[in-house]
Amino acid sequence: MNKRLAVVTGGIGGLGTAICRHLAHDGRRVVAVDLDDRPERLARFTADTAGLDVRFAPCDVADYDACADLIDRLGRELGPVEILVNAAGITRDATLRKMERTQWTQVLRVNLESVFNLCRHVVGGMVERGFGRIVNISSVNGQTGQFGQTNYAAAKAGMHGFTMALAREVARKGVTVNSVSPGYIDTEMTRALREDLRAQIIASIPVGRMGRPDDIARTVRFLCGDDADYITGANIPVNGGLFMSF
Ligand code: CAA
Repeated sequence: MNKRLAVVTGGIGGLGTAICRHLAHDGRRVVAVDLDDRPERLARFTADTAGLDVRFAPCDVADYDACADLIDRLGRELGPVEILVNAAGITRDATLRKMERTQWTQVLRVNLESVFNLCRHVVGGMVERGFGRIVNISSVNGQTGQFGQTNYAAAKAGMHGFTMALAREVARKGVTVNSVSPGYIDTEMTRALREDLRAQIIASIPVGRMGRPDDIARTVRFLCGDDADYITGANIPVNGGLFMSF
């Protein structure tokens, strides 16, 4: 059997790189999709994935036509996408009273519309072939809301609504669709937080520390397994106990 092709959006970011590595270790051919506007990120990603079956494909996932072109090109050059992990995400934190319209639209486009843009172009093929794994990286802040994140929380909660709806549409076709909701993970995104806020957040995490990208990547790898065929429409929290629910 051919090695299954996996696409990871936000693939050269903190979580994305770890996800690429774990999927490659699981025997997948991996394509990391991301913007190529920051050479230092790309260099770090290249070093972190050296020797693995992982390559980089530049694409703005907020651009519907660019996503169509990307999936078409990958299909011709590498074969059909059988695993899709939507991990592209940005923050533009501000209280709603101060939020600029662009802060709203950028976050909704990158975090939520990108999920539509990619899923729309891969799901037909997955259904036809009778196999697919889609994992959307949501957030604890989509489950609880967070001060200064009306944009981000709306997008992240929206991702899980999308997950459940699509899961129903493809459940009989061998395609699973799930969300993973990270808590605060030690990446560039959380390192950008004001030091006093970071300290407050860590103090409120029952495990007593931020999570590691590998904690998320392990969960994604599990959901993408060929044998993980009876988990769909689920949300798996990986948050150090920050938000407990059932
Ligand atoms: N709850 C209630 N009140 C709060 C609050 C909170 N969590 N945080 C701040 N406030 C209060 C402040 O005490 C302050 O009150 P006063 O006006 O009475 O003094 C007021 O709200 C304004 O607070 P700031 O000084 O922080 O306001 P700001 O405009 O300078 O900054 C902000 C606003 C940018 C949103 C800043 O508060 C912030 O960065 N907050 C953290 C947001 C956050 O957690 N983002 C997560 C990013 S990581 C991520 O998103 C990854 C993931 O998926 C988990």
